[in-house]
Amino acid sequence: MSQASSNHWDEIFSNTEETNLGWYEDDVSLTLKLLKPIPNWEHSNMFMVGTGISRLIETVLAKSVRLSLNDISPKALEKVKSRLGKESGSVNWLCQDISKPINDSDQRPASVDIWIDRAVLHFLNDEQSICGYFENLNKVLKKGGHSLFAEFSKKGAATCADLELHRYSVDELTERLGSTYQLIDSFEHIYMNPKGEPRPYVYCLYQKLS
Ligand SMILES: C[S@@+](CC[C@H](N)C(=O)[O-])C[C@H]1O[C@@H](n2cnc3c(N)ncnc32)[C@H](O)[C@@H]1O
Repeated sequence: MSQASSNHWDEIFSNTEETNLGWYEDDVSLTLKLLKPIPNWEHSNMFMVGTGISRLIETVLAKSVRLSLNDISPKALEKVKSRLGKESGSVNWLCQDISKPINDSDQRPASVDIWIDRAVLHFLNDEQSICGYFENLNKVLKKGGHSLFAEFSKKGAATCADLELHRYSVDELTERLGSTYQLIDSFEHIYMNPKGEPRPYVYCLYQKLS
């Protein structure tokens, strides 16, 4: 199957134990490693796209981050809301396909300092969706802001969650972001999924210059 539907993801989040998800991680230290050099990240406006039920959510909320959470799957966001309890009231929720324009509604994340994507962009595999994703990024990320990506690398598997992937190199991400973004850091990481299979990722941090 190519490209996402909210039903597809809702089914996965309804029928799979968190620890069996093919991207589950309880240790979010690689993302924290990219966040560390960003001045004052603990007090930023952060936008996590395709957040799923990531444990990074609680990690950043334990700081003073103001958080916007996006996902195409209402089920995933529902699960996170119930996990957060009262604290869910402090989060800005945006349930939509991130390749479609974010409207100027109440839910539009305000002046984003940091955009975080782990294993989301690579599910967009037609040019229109990929361009739509980057248009949203450019629209909401403020000048001087940072974007973090962790995507399947060119050496990675061709599919995940029964969906075909568009895998990335640092060069392709840099080219798609264009000259207004500066690459700050990048590294490769081999994630071992819950079945013990290696899944090579590329991690990148960029700053938006203008
Ligand atoms: C592989 S999971 C990664 C979840 C999370 N980022 C993490 O690291 O645990 C992909 C997530 O992206 C969401 N997703 C897929 N396509 C999307 C889209 N077009 N717009 C928004 N979310 C999407 C899925 O519902 C799912 O939660």
